[in-house]
Amino acid sequence: MATSSQGLATGASSRGARGSALRWSATLLVAASWVSAAIFGAYIILFFGGMAARGTTLRWNEALPALYDARLPLAALAIGLHFITGGILLLLGPIQLIGAIRRAVPALHRWLGRAYVLSAGLAGLGGLGFIVSKGTIGGPLMDVGFGLYGALMVLAATLAYAHARAGRPERHRAWAIRLYALTVGSWLYRMEYGFWFLTAGKFGHTSHFTGWFDMVMVFFFYLPNLAVAELFIQARHSGHGSTLRLAAATALLTASVFVIVATWFFTAAYWGPGMVSGLTGAPLSQ
Ligand code: HEM
Repeated sequence: MATSSQGLATGASSRGARGSALRWSATLLVAASWVSAAIFGAYIILFFGGMAARGTTLRWNEALPALYDARLPLAALAIGLHFITGGILLLLGPIQLIGAIRRAVPALHRWLGRAYVLSAGLAGLGGLGFIVSKGTIGGPLMDVGFGLYGALMVLAATLAYAHARAGRPERHRAWAIRLYALTVGSWLYRMEYGFWFLTAGKFGHTSHFTGWFDMVMVFFFYLPNLAVAELFIQARHSGHGSTLRLAAATALLTASVFVIVATWFFTAAYWGPGMVSGLTGAPLSQ
């Protein structure tokens, strides 16, 4: 009897440990993503906003060739709108995921949620508007990859909002997690490139994003995140102690380490020089 109750106690504590490992790894990933996303958001404001403010919007093309074309003002407007809303998403997302804030100030969660959903819809539509009016630098495959990304973003934003309004918290939460995983993709895309350049040079990449690596990347920056999000959603529903929880915790921890290292490299190589250039007007030396 003593043995079986000890066994129960040991089982319960290991289940508890797995549960808290999942919570801690999720918290670490949210914190690391927030810091990283805030740096990316600051880069967007300082570089793209700074250049537009001093009337040198053409210099956006130093970050990505052919981003700005004075003959296509609608495309410039759409991508500019997506910069602003994208920056808002990067900053608001993690706040929405912090349970303590949701419980303490539910009204704040609702208002930030509306701003987040609206920004996600507009970032998606802005990106899609740019693709339709100008096309991406990489051509048809990149148009499809980014187009699907924009469509998924609009879908996830709409469903997260609709389920919240209809009082279906579990389904709202699941779509909000998917939406967050999608928004994370925009900066993960840059970090994955940064990592690749550092480890493999420009192998598989061309200046017009038509190399094999570029082609993989048009889907790879958001589909794996969606898979991790799905794992997390399923793990939350499964019983305590399930190996799924341990697998999810390990995936989140690995993702956190990647985010921390990649942010460090990317800030030094791209975002840092971009911010300096936006502030001082100096040429972008990437
Ligand atoms: C959190 C949301 C987002 C942020 C922060 C963001 C940020 C950016 C930035 C900074 C660029 C300029 C290029 C660079 O510096 O790498 C860019 C370009 C672009 N983004 Fe986004 N983005 C977001 C979401 C989206 C979505 C949802 C779409 C969907 C269609 C999209 C489509 C595009 C396109 C088409 C380009 C231009 C690529 C080209 O010139 O061919 N973005 N984005």
